[in-house]
Amino acid sequence: MSRKAEHMDLALHAEVERISGPGWDELDLVHEALPELDVAEVDLSVDLFGRRLRAPLVIAAMTGGHAGAVEVNATLARAAERHGLAMGVGSQRAALADPSLVDSYAIVRECAPTAPVIGNIGAAQLIGQGEAPALSIDDLRRAVDMVGADALAIHLNFLEESVQPEGDAHTKGCAEAIGAVASALEVPIVVKETGAGMSRRTAERLRDLGVAALDVGGAGGTSFAIVERLRARQQGDHASYALGMALGEWGIPTAATVAATAPVGLPVIATGGVRGGLDAAKAIALGATAAGVARPLLAAAVEGEQQLDTWIEEFTAELRTVMLLTGSGTTTALQHQPLVAHGRLRDWLGMWPSTARASL
Ligand SMILES: Cc1cc2nc3c(=O)[nH]c(=O)nc-3n(C[C@H](O)[C@H](O)[C@H](O)COP(=O)(O)O)c2cc1C
Repeated sequence: MSRKAEHMDLALHAEVERISGPGWDELDLVHEALPELDVAEVDLSVDLFGRRLRAPLVIAAMTGGHAGAVEVNATLARAAERHGLAMGVGSQRAALADPSLVDSYAIVRECAPTAPVIGNIGAAQLIGQGEAPALSIDDLRRAVDMVGADALAIHLNFLEESVQPEGDAHTKGCAEAIGAVASALEVPIVVKETGAGMSRRTAERLRDLGVAALDVGGAGGTSFAIVERLRARQQGDHASYALGMALGEWGIPTAATVAATAPVGLPVIATGGVRGGLDAAKAIALGATAAGVARPLLAAAVEGEQQLDTWIEEFTAELRTVMLLTGSGTTTALQHQPLVAHGRLRDWLGMWPSTARASL
């Protein structure tokens, strides 16, 4: 089984979420008893990369590059098209090396002719890793063309690479390479963490490198330290397993990383442990433009189109209701509602006091 197929299998069938959560439980929105707003008037739409989404939901990057990915990507893409959502594909590295794998990604554009699609490549592949040379700008253009991408995500996954038995843990030169890609490529660049979050300082560096948006991929949902430690155990790699055990709870919780990065001025996608419309509402109230969801949508997609529709409809109904109950007619209004932070999240927010939300 390829690594991408193993990831999908483990995400579907194993316990891969952290014990400590993304922080939504430590954040309250303030109820508005007299909203003076009709629920039908609540507008969920947002702009992302100059494209309009009908709801602030991104189907987060997951798969491609193996036979089992074709149907999953097709199902997710059709849902993105039906519901007016954006969708990311999984890392396209495999298809750049092996053209027979292109179809498992290209199917997304076929099934979602108008939805915003986000390509995906690892920052580790922008620099040489041992024998493997760095990807060129032409390689990245091929990745963009493969899915007719509206934007390209460069993922940061050095926690995962460190625990992965065969991981690429060289990082030196990635920042410069991201800057070079951001100035050379014709589409906007999103830098995407994958479960450990970003500090404000990292977000400022990425903004200064010319990155167009951040997917802050905080800690609290699917943990790739856990996924890789399960793979390490299957392979009998005790050192990687021990590292994965030690670092399973590593990272900045999603709510904290959204609060840290939103004031930097780039659009923020809040991914990592978003499990419903209330979580997304809290992320938006902290300053995110949209929420990203991976594992729950994968689980729904393998059940079928109807389950996926139900998940998305429940998500939007929940978000719409929370917007009503905070008196927010738009997501911009929601971004300005008061919030109350408690406990561990409050401690994290103390890290970035100067420009965090005035009400926190
Ligand atoms: C099976 C699976 C494969 C993934 N593959 C990628 C990937 O190739 N590139 C990437 O940027 N993120 C990848 N992710 C990370 C997700 O995009 C997301 O950041 C993470 O799963 C947290 O979201 P969640 O808690 O909603 O699952 C993957 C996630 C899953 C579950």
